[in-house]
Amino acid sequence: MDSHANQAGGTPGLVGAAQPGLAAPGSHASALRFGDLHAVPRTLLIPLAARAHGARSFPWLACDDAVAAHLLDCLGADVHALLEDKPTVLNILWRTRLIKAAGQAFFAAHPCSTGASLGCGLSHAFQWLDTGRNAWIDADLPEVMALRGPLQPPEPSRRRHACIDLTVPGWWQRLALPEGPGAAPVFLLCEGVLMYLQPAQVQAVLAEFAEHAPPGSQWVCDVISQVGVGQAHRCPSLAPTGAEFHWGVQDMADLAACHPRLRLLAQHSVAECYGWMGTVAEWCLRPWSPTPLYALVTLGV
Ligand SMILES: C[S@@+](CC[C@H](N)C(=O)[O-])C[C@H]1O[C@@H](n2cnc3c(N)ncnc32)[C@H](O)[C@@H]1O
Repeated sequence: MDSHANQAGGTPGLVGAAQPGLAAPGSHASALRFGDLHAVPRTLLIPLAARAHGARSFPWLACDDAVAAHLLDCLGADVHALLEDKPTVLNILWRTRLIKAAGQAFFAAHPCSTGASLGCGLSHAFQWLDTGRNAWIDADLPEVMALRGPLQPPEPSRRRHACIDLTVPGWWQRLALPEGPGAAPVFLLCEGVLMYLQPAQVQAVLAEFAEHAPPGSQWVCDVISQVGVGQAHRCPSLAPTGAEFHWGVQDMADLAACHPRLRLLAQHSVAECYGWMGTVAEWCLRPWSPTPLYALVTLGV
Protein backbone atom coordinates (compact mmCIF):
# COMPACT_ATOMS: atom_id res chain seq x y z
CA MET A 1 0.00 0.00 0.00
CA ASP A 2 1.19 3.49 -0.78
CA SER A 3 2.34 4.95 2.52
CA HIS A 4 1.40 8.44 1.33
CA ALA A 5 -2.23 7.40 1.00
CA ASN A 6 -2.64 7.72 4.73
CA GLN A 7 -0.78 10.94 5.28
CA ALA A 8 -2.92 13.31 7.29
CA GLY A 9 -3.17 17.05 7.09
CA GLY A 10 -1.10 18.19 4.20
CA THR A 11 -1.62 21.75 5.46
CA PRO A 12 1.66 23.64 5.20
CA GLY A 13 3.19 25.25 8.30
CA LEU A 14 1.50 28.53 9.16
CA VAL A 15 3.22 31.72 8.16
CA GLY A 16 5.31 33.34 10.87
CA ALA A 17 6.12 30.19 12.84
CA ALA A 18 8.32 31.05 15.81
CA GLN A 19 10.30 27.82 15.43
CA PRO A 20 11.17 26.04 12.20
CA GLY A 21 8.38 23.69 11.19
CA LEU A 22 5.98 24.86 13.89
CA ALA A 23 2.91 27.09 13.75
CA ALA A 24 2.82 30.62 15.14
CA PRO A 25 1.39 31.15 18.65
CA GLY A 26 -2.29 32.07 18.74
CA SER A 27 -3.17 29.99 15.69
CA HIS A 28 -6.89 30.67 15.62
CA ALA A 29 -7.83 27.74 13.43
CA SER A 30 -6.10 25.25 15.72
CA ALA A 31 -7.66 26.70 18.87
CA LEU A 32 -11.12 26.30 17.37
CA ARG A 33 -10.46 22.72 16.39
CA PHE A 34 -9.23 21.77 19.87
CA GLY A 35 -12.58 22.82 21.29
CA ASP A 36 -14.29 20.45 18.88
CA LEU A 37 -12.42 17.31 19.97
CA HIS A 38 -14.25 14.37 21.53
CA ALA A 39 -13.60 13.25 25.11
CA VAL A 40 -10.57 10.94 24.68
CA PRO A 41 -8.77 13.08 22.08
CA ARG A 42 -9.17 16.06 24.48
CA THR A 43 -6.93 14.23 26.95
CA LEU A 44 -3.93 15.00 24.73
CA LEU A 45 -3.65 18.37 26.46
CA ILE A 46 -2.72 16.71 29.77
CA PRO A 47 0.61 15.11 28.70
CA LEU A 48 1.39 18.13 26.54
CA ALA A 49 1.04 20.42 29.57
CA ALA A 50 3.09 18.09 31.76
CA ARG A 51 5.96 17.93 29.27
CA ALA A 52 5.84 21.69 28.75
CA HIS A 53 5.72 22.89 32.35
CA GLY A 54 5.72 19.88 34.70
CA ALA A 55 9.40 20.31 35.52
CA ARG A 56 8.45 23.34 37.66
CA SER A 57 7.05 20.83 40.16
CA PHE A 58 9.45 17.96 39.45
CA PRO A 59 12.75 19.45 38.25
CA TRP A 60 14.56 16.13 38.58
CA LEU A 61 12.19 14.68 35.97
CA ALA A 62 12.57 17.53 33.45
CA CYS A 63 12.21 16.10 29.94
CA ASP A 64 13.37 19.21 28.05
CA ASP A 65 10.64 18.99 25.44
CA ALA A 66 11.62 21.50 22.76
CA VAL A 67 8.13 22.04 21.34
CA ALA A 68 5.44 21.35 23.97
CA ALA A 69 5.31 24.87 25.46
CA HIS A 70 5.17 26.43 22.02
CA LEU A 71 2.28 24.16 20.99
CA LEU A 72 0.36 25.15 24.12
CA ASP A 73 0.84 28.79 23.17
CA CYS A 74 -0.49 28.03 19.70
CA LEU A 75 -3.58 26.40 21.19
CA GLY A 76 -4.07 29.29 23.60
CA ALA A 77 -4.89 26.68 26.24
CA ASP A 78 -5.00 27.52 29.95
CA VAL A 79 -3.34 24.53 31.58
CA HIS A 80 -2.93 25.83 35.15
CA ALA A 81 -5.54 23.41 36.51
CA LEU A 82 -3.89 20.48 34.71
CA LEU A 83 -0.54 21.29 36.29
CA GLU A 84 -2.15 21.24 39.75
CA ASP A 85 -2.83 17.50 39.26
CA LYS A 86 0.67 16.67 40.50
CA PRO A 87 0.41 12.84 40.52
CA THR A 88 -0.59 12.86 36.85
CA VAL A 89 2.18 15.30 35.95
CA LEU A 90 4.66 13.07 37.74
CA ASN A 91 3.36 9.96 35.94
CA ILE A 92 3.84 11.62 32.58
CA LEU A 93 7.33 12.98 33.24
CA TRP A 94 8.39 9.64 34.70
CA ARG A 95 7.12 7.69 31.70
CA THR A 96 8.71 10.18 29.29
CA ARG A 97 12.10 9.55 30.87
CA LEU A 98 11.69 5.78 30.50
CA ILE A 99 10.34 6.07 26.95
CA LYS A 100 13.35 8.16 25.94
CA ALA A 101 15.70 5.55 27.41
CA ALA A 102 13.88 2.62 25.80
CA GLY A 103 13.70 4.33 22.42
CA GLN A 104 17.30 5.48 22.46
CA ALA A 105 18.48 1.97 23.36
CA PHE A 106 16.37 0.49 20.56
CA PHE A 107 17.59 2.92 17.91
CA ALA A 108 21.20 2.59 19.07
CA ALA A 109 20.89 -1.07 18.10
CA HIS A 110 18.76 -0.39 14.98
CA PRO A 111 19.70 3.13 13.77
CA CYS A 112 17.92 2.82 10.40
CA SER A 113 14.67 1.30 11.68
CA THR A 114 11.16 2.73 11.76
CA GLY A 115 9.40 3.96 14.87
CA ALA A 116 5.87 5.18 15.44
CA SER A 117 3.80 6.88 18.08
CA LEU A 118 0.29 5.42 17.97
CA GLY A 119 -2.22 7.80 19.50
CA CYS A 120 0.45 10.50 19.30
CA GLY A 121 -1.74 13.46 20.27
CA LEU A 122 0.54 16.51 20.04
CA SER A 123 3.61 14.70 21.34
CA HIS A 124 6.96 14.80 19.60
CA ALA A 125 8.92 11.75 20.77
CA PHE A 126 11.06 11.78 17.63
CA GLN A 127 12.91 14.86 18.93
CA TRP A 128 14.69 12.48 21.31
CA LEU A 129 14.92 9.42 19.07
CA ASP A 130 16.08 10.80 15.73
CA THR A 131 19.31 9.06 14.71
CA GLY A 132 19.54 10.93 11.43
CA ARG A 133 18.80 7.71 9.55
CA ASN A 134 15.60 6.28 11.09
CA ALA A 135 12.01 7.01 10.08
CA TRP A 136 9.09 8.01 12.30
CA ILE A 137 5.30 8.00 12.01
CA ASP A 138 3.01 10.06 14.23
CA ALA A 139 -0.49 8.59 14.02
CA ASP A 140 -3.79 9.33 15.69
CA LEU A 141 -7.51 9.64 14.99
CA PRO A 142 -8.39 11.93 12.05
CA GLU A 143 -9.73 14.71 14.30
CA VAL A 144 -6.42 14.85 16.17
CA MET A 145 -4.32 14.73 13.03
CA ALA A 146 -6.37 17.61 11.62
CA LEU A 147 -5.36 19.61 14.69
CA ARG A 148 -1.77 18.41 14.59
CA GLY A 149 -1.14 18.97 10.87
CA PRO A 150 -0.94 22.78 10.95
CA LEU A 151 0.79 22.85 14.34
CA GLN A 152 3.54 20.30 13.72
CA PRO A 153 3.76 19.66 9.98
CA PRO A 154 5.41 16.34 9.05
CA GLU A 155 8.82 16.40 7.44
CA PRO A 156 8.53 14.53 4.15
CA SER A 157 11.94 12.89 4.36
CA ARG A 158 11.74 10.74 7.49
CA ARG A 159 8.81 11.87 9.64
CA ARG A 160 5.27 11.38 8.40
CA HIS A 161 1.75 11.73 9.71
CA ALA A 162 -1.02 9.17 9.42
CA CYS A 163 -4.65 8.85 10.44
CA ILE A 164 -5.48 5.63 12.24
CA ASP A 165 -8.12 4.20 14.50
CA LEU A 166 -6.43 1.47 16.49
CA THR A 167 -9.79 -0.16 17.16
CA VAL A 168 -10.17 -0.95 13.44
CA PRO A 169 -8.13 -4.05 12.56
CA GLY A 170 -5.65 -3.67 9.72
CA TRP A 171 -3.84 -0.58 11.05
CA TRP A 172 -0.45 -2.29 10.53
CA GLN A 173 -0.97 -2.42 6.76
CA ARG A 174 -2.63 1.00 6.67
CA LEU A 175 0.49 2.47 8.26
CA ALA A 176 2.61 0.49 5.80
CA LEU A 177 4.81 -0.72 8.66
CA PRO A 178 7.56 -3.21 7.80
CA GLU A 179 6.63 -6.85 8.32
CA GLY A 180 7.98 -10.33 7.84
CA PRO A 181 11.01 -12.19 9.18
CA GLY A 182 13.49 -10.39 6.90
CA ALA A 183 12.37 -6.83 7.74
CA ALA A 184 14.09 -4.51 10.21
CA PRO A 185 12.50 -4.41 13.67
CA VAL A 186 10.16 -1.54 14.54
CA PHE A 187 9.71 0.50 17.70
CA LEU A 188 6.10 1.28 18.55
CA LEU A 189 5.12 3.71 21.28
CA CYS A 190 1.56 3.82 22.59
CA GLU A 191 1.52 6.17 25.59
CA GLY A 192 -1.65 7.27 27.36
CA VAL A 193 -3.90 5.44 24.90
CA LEU A 194 -4.76 1.82 25.66
CA MET A 195 -6.53 2.45 28.97
CA TYR A 196 -9.27 4.29 27.04
CA LEU A 197 -10.01 1.27 24.81
CA GLN A 198 -12.18 -1.74 25.60
CA PRO A 199 -10.29 -4.88 26.78
CA ALA A 200 -11.10 -6.81 23.59
CA GLN A 201 -9.83 -3.89 21.51
CA VAL A 202 -6.53 -3.81 23.42
CA GLN A 203 -6.09 -7.55 22.95
CA ALA A 204 -6.69 -7.13 19.22
CA VAL A 205 -4.19 -4.25 19.00
CA LEU A 206 -1.47 -6.24 20.78
CA ALA A 207 -2.26 -9.32 18.70
CA GLU A 208 -1.93 -7.28 15.49
CA PHE A 209 1.49 -6.07 16.64
CA ALA A 210 2.54 -9.64 17.46
CA GLU A 211 1.17 -10.99 14.19
CA HIS A 212 3.01 -8.56 11.90
CA ALA A 213 6.06 -7.18 13.72
CA PRO A 214 9.46 -8.28 12.43
CA PRO A 215 11.60 -10.16 14.97
CA GLY A 216 13.25 -7.84 17.50
CA SER A 217 10.42 -5.28 17.38
CA GLN A 218 9.34 -3.55 20.58
CA TRP A 219 6.04 -2.19 21.85
CA VAL A 220 6.27 0.35 24.69
CA CYS A 221 3.07 1.37 26.46
CA ASP A 222 1.82 2.52 29.84
CA VAL A 223 -0.78 0.49 31.70
CA ILE A 224 -3.03 1.05 34.68
CA SER A 225 -4.11 -1.55 37.20
CA GLN A 226 -7.51 -3.18 36.86
CA VAL A 227 -8.58 -1.27 40.00
CA GLY A 228 -8.33 1.98 38.03
CA VAL A 229 -10.98 0.98 35.50
CA GLY A 230 -14.00 3.27 35.73
CA GLN A 231 -12.13 5.66 38.03
CA ALA A 232 -11.09 8.42 35.60
CA HIS A 233 -13.54 10.84 37.24
CA ARG A 234 -11.31 10.73 40.35
CA CYS A 235 -8.39 12.15 38.38
CA PRO A 236 -8.72 15.96 38.51
CA SER A 237 -7.20 16.58 35.10
CA LEU A 238 -9.20 13.85 33.35
CA ALA A 239 -12.61 14.39 34.91
CA PRO A 240 -13.49 17.52 32.87
CA THR A 241 -12.77 15.71 29.59
CA GLY A 242 -15.41 13.03 30.20
CA ALA A 243 -12.94 10.31 29.14
CA GLU A 244 -13.09 7.00 31.01
CA PHE A 245 -10.66 4.15 31.70
CA HIS A 246 -11.99 0.89 30.25
CA TRP A 247 -8.91 -1.34 30.28
CA GLY A 248 -6.56 -2.21 33.13
CA VAL A 249 -4.18 -5.06 33.90
CA GLN A 250 -4.93 -7.66 36.55
CA ASP A 251 -1.72 -9.62 36.02
CA MET A 252 1.27 -8.50 33.91
CA ALA A 253 1.48 -12.03 32.48
CA ASP A 254 -1.89 -11.36 30.78
CA LEU A 255 -0.17 -8.89 28.42
CA ALA A 256 2.01 -11.50 26.75
CA ALA A 257 -0.87 -13.99 26.79
CA CYS A 258 -2.56 -12.07 23.95
CA HIS A 259 -0.38 -13.85 21.37
CA PRO A 260 2.22 -16.67 21.43
CA ARG A 261 4.91 -14.42 19.90
CA LEU A 262 4.60 -11.75 22.60
CA ARG A 263 7.14 -11.48 25.41
CA LEU A 264 7.14 -9.11 28.37
CA LEU A 265 10.64 -7.61 28.10
CA ALA A 266 10.52 -4.98 30.84
CA GLN A 267 8.18 -3.40 33.36
CA HIS A 268 8.55 -0.40 35.64
CA SER A 269 6.24 0.82 38.36
CA VAL A 270 5.79 4.51 39.03
CA ALA A 271 6.22 3.58 42.70
CA GLU A 272 9.97 3.79 42.05
CA CYS A 273 9.56 7.58 41.94
CA TYR A 274 8.41 7.63 45.55
CA GLY A 275 11.40 5.68 46.99
CA TRP A 276 10.81 3.31 49.91
CA MET A 277 7.38 4.85 50.61
CA GLY A 278 6.28 3.88 47.11
CA THR A 279 7.50 0.34 47.58
CA VAL A 280 5.68 -0.02 50.91
CA ALA A 281 2.46 1.50 49.55
CA GLU A 282 2.55 -0.82 46.55
CA TRP A 283 3.10 -3.84 48.82
CA CYS A 284 0.15 -2.82 51.03
CA LEU A 285 -2.12 -2.49 47.97
CA ARG A 286 -1.16 -5.88 46.60
CA PRO A 287 -4.27 -7.75 47.86
CA TRP A 288 -6.43 -5.39 45.75
CA SER A 289 -3.99 -4.72 42.94
CA PRO A 290 -1.39 -7.41 42.19
CA THR A 291 -0.01 -5.12 39.45
CA PRO A 292 1.30 -1.58 40.01
CA LEU A 293 -1.33 1.17 39.86
CA TYR A 294 0.59 2.70 36.96
CA ALA A 295 3.39 1.08 35.00
CA LEU A 296 5.38 1.30 31.79
CA VAL A 297 5.95 -1.98 29.96
CA THR A 298 7.96 -3.11 26.97
CA LEU A 299 6.65 -6.03 24.95
CA GLY A 300 8.71 -7.71 22.29
CA VAL A 301 8.45 -10.34 19.58
C1 LIG B 1 -3.82 11.06 26.71
S1 LIG B 1 -3.70 11.35 24.97
C2 LIG B 1 -2.00 10.83 24.72
C3 LIG B 1 -1.39 11.52 23.56
C4 LIG B 1 0.10 11.23 23.37
N1 LIG B 1 0.38 9.83 23.24
C5 LIG B 1 0.91 11.84 24.47
O1 LIG B 1 1.41 11.11 25.33
O2 LIG B 1 1.04 13.06 24.50
C6 LIG B 1 -4.61 9.97 24.27
C7 LIG B 1 -4.52 9.90 22.75
O3 LIG B 1 -5.02 8.63 22.30
C8 LIG B 1 -5.65 8.85 21.08
N2 LIG B 1 -6.56 7.74 20.79
C9 LIG B 1 -7.60 7.33 21.53
N3 LIG B 1 -8.25 6.32 20.93
C10 LIG B 1 -7.58 6.08 19.78
C11 LIG B 1 -7.75 5.15 18.71
N4 LIG B 1 -8.77 4.29 18.72
N5 LIG B 1 -6.89 5.16 17.68
C12 LIG B 1 -5.86 6.06 17.68
N6 LIG B 1 -5.64 6.96 18.66
C13 LIG B 1 -6.49 6.97 19.69
C14 LIG B 1 -6.40 10.14 21.33
O4 LIG B 1 -6.88 10.72 20.14
C15 LIG B 1 -5.36 10.97 22.06
O5 LIG B 1 -4.55 11.71 21.19
